[in-house]
Amino acid sequence: MSEISAASPALLGGDPVRTKPFPPRPGIGAAEREAVAGVLDSGVLSQFLGGWTEEFWGGPRVRGLERAWEARFGVRHAISMNSATSALYAAAAAAGVGPGDEVIVSPYTMTASAACALVQGALPVFADIDDATFCLDPDSVRERITERTKAIVAVDIFGLAAGLDELMEIAREHDLVVIEDAAQAPGAAWRGRPAGTLGHIGVFSLNYHKPIQCGEGGVAVTDDDRLAERLALVRNHAEAVVGDMGADHPDLVGFNYRLGELEAAIAAVQLERLDALVEPRIRAAERLTAGLADLEGVHPPFVPEGARHVYYVHAVRLDPERLGVSRARFAAALRAEGVPVAEGYVAPLYRQPLYQRRTAPAFALAPGGGPSYADGTSPVCERLHERELVYHDLVHADMGEDDLDDIVAAFRKVHAWRDELRRPGTP
Ligand SMILES: Cc1ncc(COP(=O)(O)O)c(C=O)c1O
Repeated sequence: MSEISAASPALLGGDPVRTKPFPPRPGIGAAEREAVAGVLDSGVLSQFLGGWTEEFWGGPRVRGLERAWEARFGVRHAISMNSATSALYAAAAAAGVGPGDEVIVSPYTMTASAACALVQGALPVFADIDDATFCLDPDSVRERITERTKAIVAVDIFGLAAGLDELMEIAREHDLVVIEDAAQAPGAAWRGRPAGTLGHIGVFSLNYHKPIQCGEGGVAVTDDDRLAERLALVRNHAEAVVGDMGADHPDLVGFNYRLGELEAAIAAVQLERLDALVEPRIRAAERLTAGLADLEGVHPPFVPEGARHVYYVHAVRLDPERLGVSRARFAAALRAEGVPVAEGYVAPLYRQPLYQRRTAPAFALAPGGGPSYADGTSPVCERLHERELVYHDLVHADMGEDDLDDIVAAFRKVHAWRDELRRPGTP
């Protein structure tokens, strides 16, 4: 083993590449403060009524946000909610998902992408994901279709929308609704069309770690008038309202998923800054990708031809066989160099106790107890999660070139020293 020196990996006692913290994410600016002050001055913090009046549609900021969202994304309807989770739950209800139905979804996503089926008494069926894009693999989706399939939830994971054309084709063949979970992907696009508008209903998140934020918030979009009406009903106590609307939607039970005026005002300002916040992310990620491109066994995010990836996180696939060192070791070495990478993403959702124990009410309604959630259900996802993926979110608009170059330098250093790192007996 070579002598330990300052140039050695920090994990083996050398000096780390990075000793100071990376810049925090961009905060809230003067325009957001002013917008909040305007709401406070108006005295109207919310203006929804759960009845069939003008106020069924919410207050002026909520409606203003929705009109601005429609214009920015080129959709007929934007319906704001108090989170993307609420918007997903409303989307499943609007799509008519119900007891006995199945909803095909990726297991490599935030829990609500799948839980939206359970809330409606339906069961998530987990398909596998594509090795390169980490989005649903359409071939795997085809294999999961049964006569009970009602909808597909396609997740634009990590800020990339991929495979939707084929999923829409499958949906046409089998008369399914596609819900695009674009929570992580505002500003992304596929062949010039905004992510979130590629399915029948799209859902965005405005929580604090998304590219644009208002604290807590979400928006559902659709070009379908009937789906829009149903989304608005579920948001706002549907059962109290449908009578007035001619009982056209008697299957709907409503919630209170309404967004407040303060959040709506902040979200409207953030929406104006969407490009200004997302374009630096793309430039940052491209700088990282260029700096890692020649490293054998290190695969920066894949961007299919025609896609605009907005990099909610920068997810790098490691190939431990080619590297000759495990992901755990590689990631530990990166962290020792001062780059806080996480390993894997969320565990495949079917490993949650909820699915393993089948205790949710929806399972009681399932013929034969429902689909399998055994290990091996989504092997690509399992491999990526257990052995290959590392990610970080250091691609935001306030990252400088020097900060990004430190990340590249850390990856390159760990890669160059990988033989030392795998030696038995090294700490
Ligand atoms: C893919 C995905 N879907 C849905 C959500 C839920 O978003 P919210 O926190 O706004 O409910 C998130 C949030 O992290 C997400 O990443």
